[in-house]
Amino acid sequence: MISNQSRTPHSVLPSLHSTLIYRPRSYVERLDLSKLFPVARPLEVELGSGDGSFLAAYAQAHPEHNFLGVERLLGRLRKLDRKGQRLGLSNLKVIRLEATYVVEYLLPRESVRALHIYFPDPWPKRRHQARRLINPRFAEAARIALELGGKIYLRTDNTEYFAQMTEVFTGNTGYREIQTLESLSTRLTDFERDFAAKGVPTRRAAYERCC
Ligand SMILES: C[S@@+](CC[C@H](N)C(=O)[O-])C[C@H]1O[C@@H](n2cnc3c(N)ncnc32)[C@H](O)[C@@H]1O
Repeated sequence: MISNQSRTPHSVLPSLHSTLIYRPRSYVERLDLSKLFPVARPLEVELGSGDGSFLAAYAQAHPEHNFLGVERLLGRLRKLDRKGQRLGLSNLKVIRLEATYVVEYLLPRESVRALHIYFPDPWPKRRHQARRLINPRFAEAARIALELGGKIYLRTDNTEYFAQMTEVFTGNTGYREIQTLESLSTRLTDFERDFAAKGVPTRRAAYERCC
């Protein structure tokens, strides 16, 4: 008797490798980027990539760079995975982990050309603000992960969190403030589109690692 599987043409069998989700073999050693990407290229990382609509489109537009999306919610990570696969991207990988852990413990030192952090959870209640991603410890960990001259791009709708971001990065002498290129700032994220439709403006800042 012929089993169903043996009658299925190979071309329609799901590939065991058809995912862009990367599961590190070790969570205590820094990532070996040569295992993530088939070709070595400058690395850009998005923290809290949500449904991935920004990152998938941006990675498609920049085949000369590699991209890593970090997202803790599996449902959102899978959306980005599917988008990347549909676009046939070989320069995109996604990882399901806490962003702070990835930056502090997994990204190799001086390995990141650009960090994108768009609409991180604002935790508006005072008693929850310690949970915010951006704080002085994070800024220093990000500086160490960035190449010299590497850039960090920030966006938020929350005025008060924006003030905190600005204070944190201007208070770290390892950064200098820079402008965000229009070609980047005009690429809206999923949350940004919703905010824009409601008339909520985006607050934007960018910094470069200078030492
Ligand atoms: C407000 S949404 C913004 C999503 C996307 N950046 C955008 O602008 O459309 C924040 C995202 O960051 C993720 N997130 C929040 N804190 C995180 C953390 N510590 N590590 C990884 N992902 C996180 C959330 O699950 C959520 O998908």
